[in-house]
Amino acid sequence: MTDLLEPRAIGQALVRRDGEAKVRGTATYAYETPVEDPAYCHPVQATIARGRVTAVDTTAAAALDGVLRILTPFDAERLASTEDAEYAVLQSPEIAFRGQLVGVVIAETSEVARQAADAVVVTYAEQEHDSTLAVDRDDLYAPEQVNAGHETDTAEGDVAAAMATAEVSIERTYSTAMYHNNPLEPHATTALWDADAQFLTLWDSTQGVHPDRAAVCEVFGLDQEQVRVVCPYVGGGFGSKGRPHANVMLAAMAARALPGRPVKLALTRQQMFFLAGYRTPTIQQLQLAADRRGRLQAIAIDVVEQTSRIKEFAEQTGVPTRMMYAAPNRRSTHRLAALDVPVPSWFRAPGECPGMFGPEVAMDELAEELGIDPVELRIRNEPEVDPETKKPWSSRNLVRCLREGAERFGWADRPRGRRDGDWLVGYGVASSVYPTMRQATSTATLRFEDGRYVAEIGAADLGTGAWTILPQITADALDVDVADVEVRIGDTRYPTASVAGGSSGTNTWGSALVVAARAFRDKFGGSPADGDEVSGDVDQAAKDDAHAPYAFGAQFVEARVHADTGEIRLPRLLGVFGVGRVVNPRTARSQLIGGMTMGLSMALHENSVWDPRIGQVANHDLAEYHITVNADVGEIEALWIDEHDPYVNVMGTKGIGEIGITGTAAAVVNAVHAATGVRVRDLPVTLDKLLPGLP
Ligand code: MOS
Repeated sequence: MTDLLEPRAIGQALVRRDGEAKVRGTATYAYETPVEDPAYCHPVQATIARGRVTAVDTTAAAALDGVLRILTPFDAERLASTEDAEYAVLQSPEIAFRGQLVGVVIAETSEVARQAADAVVVTYAEQEHDSTLAVDRDDLYAPEQVNAGHETDTAEGDVAAAMATAEVSIERTYSTAMYHNNPLEPHATTALWDADAQFLTLWDSTQGVHPDRAAVCEVFGLDQEQVRVVCPYVGGGFGSKGRPHANVMLAAMAARALPGRPVKLALTRQQMFFLAGYRTPTIQQLQLAADRRGRLQAIAIDVVEQTSRIKEFAEQTGVPTRMMYAAPNRRSTHRLAALDVPVPSWFRAPGECPGMFGPEVAMDELAEELGIDPVELRIRNEPEVDPETKKPWSSRNLVRCLREGAERFGWADRPRGRRDGDWLVGYGVASSVYPTMRQATSTATLRFEDGRYVAEIGAADLGTGAWTILPQITADALDVDVADVEVRIGDTRYPTASVAGGSSGTNTWGSALVVAARAFRDKFGGSPADGDEVSGDVDQAAKDDAHAPYAFGAQFVEARVHADTGEIRLPRLLGVFGVGRVVNPRTARSQLIGGMTMGLSMALHENSVWDPRIGQVANHDLAEYHITVNADVGEIEALWIDEHDPYVNVMGTKGIGEIGITGTAAAVVNAVHAATGVRVRDLPVTLDKLLPGLP
C-alpha cells in the first residue's frame, strides 16, 4: 500500500500540449520528417496465398525513369536473424499468405515507385491454400500460452457436472469478426543509414521507440548504439504499431541499399490489410449454469481462433471469463488454427475486447431465462476475491458502476420492444474490464535547466495524451507548478521506456517519473542549480503483488431498430468506469469515449470480410471497411466514479486506453435484443441478421 501522490496538477483538465502543433500542421509525423533528397519505396506483394516465387522479372520496372533499385527475394541482403518469420523480409521465396512482401522498388518519387512496383513480374509455383477458420477443424492446437503470458487453459471444479444438475443452464456459441486496426496515420517510416552504413536512423510511426529499435537490431544484427528511433507524434496505432511489422524491416533494408540517402516507406491503406496486423476472428462456446436465484454455478468459455502459419499470435480471449464472476466451477480453453493468412497481432484490448462479448451476451441470455434484471444478475455474482488467484481486489467497483449507470440511464424505466412510431426501442447493459498493468522497464531522467524541470523518457503519445499528463504527474511529485515542467518523449536518445500498450503507459512511465522526481528532491531540495540531474527507474517504485488489480465499468446502450427496414440507430451510450485516479479528465474522457465508439464500430460496422477462395480480405480499404463515424454516434458519455486505489501505483491510476472498448458490443447486442427480440450472436449486427426475426 502506498501513499498516493497529493493531486494538484493531477486531476486538472489541461489542454493537450501537442494540440496546437497538430492543429497548425507543424507536428511532424514519420513520413513527413524533413530530410534531404529522399527516395521513395513501394512494396511488391504476393498475389498468391501459398506457394513459392520462382522468378522475378524486373526488366520493365527497372527501365522506368527514376527507378533507383529493386530488391527481390533473390538478391536482397541476408538478414542477421530470420527467427521471426514476419520480419524476415525477402529472405525466402516461400509465400505463406497473400500480400506477403516479395519485393520493393526504390525510386525518385512515390509515383514512380508505385508504377514500377506494378511493372515487376513475379512468377509463382502456386499451392492450394487453406484459410477457413472453423470450430470443427481437425488441426486445432493448444498454444503453449496465450498473449501477455496467460495460461492457455484453466479449470476449477466440474463444469460438466454443474451444467447437468443446475436449475438453469445455457449453452451458446458467439463469434466476433476479423478486425483491422486502421489508425488514421498509416504505418510509415523514414529510414537513413549513414554513408558507411554503420548507423541507422528511423523516423518510424511506433508505439514504442525502444521496443522498435530492439526488434530492428535483432533482425539486422546491430548494437543498440547503432540505431536511433525517433517518433514524437503518432496518428493512432490501437496496437498495430505496438511491435514493428514487416514494413519497418523493409524500409531499413531499402535504405541500406542507398547508404547516405533517406528513404521513405508508407503503407497504403490497402496494404495495411495484409501487413500491419489485425484481430483474429473468434468463435466462443459459452456455458453458464445457475440456480433459480441467479447464482452462477458454472461459467466456461472455449475459444477457437486463428493465427498465421509463419508466426503464432494467440489472442487471450478466454481470460476475462476467468475472473469476472463468482462461479465455483470454471473452465477456459484456447485453440488455434494456423492458416495461410496474414499475421494477427495486438488490437485495442487484445483478449478482453472479444472476450467480453460472448460472456456478457450470455449473461443477458441467462438473465432473460431467469427473469432477473441483467444488472441485478451481475450484482448477485460479484466475487469477493479474484476467483482465479484468490487474491483480494486492489479495488473493484463494478457494482457501483452498474448502479450509478443504471440510475443515470433510466434503466428502471427501460422500454422492452416498445414501439415509437416506426422504431422499436430497447436498452442493453454489459460490464467492462481491463487489467491494470505496469511494465518492468522504464527509466526517466530529470534535470533542472534554465529555471525549468526537464524530464526525458522514451515514451510514446499515440494521440492519447502522454505529452500532457506526464508533466502533470511529474509536477505533483516535485510539488511545483506544471507550467515549470517539460517531459520529452519519443526518441531512443532518451532513457529506455516500455511500449505504449496494455494501457500501461501512464502506470509505468509515471512511476519512473515519480521515482526520479523524489530522488531529485532528496538530492537537491527545493532550490536546485542549473544542470542538477537524477534518473529514476520504474523498478524502484513500490510494487504490490498481494492484490488483483483491474479497472471495471458498466456500459448502457439505447437501440432503436426500424420495424420495416431493420436499420439500427444507437442514440445513447453511457459508460461508467472505475479506473482509479484520472490524471486529466479531458484526455481521459477522450480515451474512454474513443474506446466506446470503437466498441460500437465493432458491434455494427467493422468486419474484414474474408474471401476464402482467394485468401484475402475482400473489403481492404476504407470505402468498404466501415468504421463508425460521427453521424453514427448520438449522445455518448463516459463518466468515472471517484476511486482511490492505493495498491496499483503511487498515482493511483489503472490505465484507460482500452477498457472503453470492452463490453460495448455486448451491450449493443443486448439492447438490440431488448428492442426486437432478435438475438444476434455473430458480430457485426447487420440488418440481414435482424430482418427475418423482426416482429
Ligand atoms: Mo494496445 S492493443 O495493448 O496497443
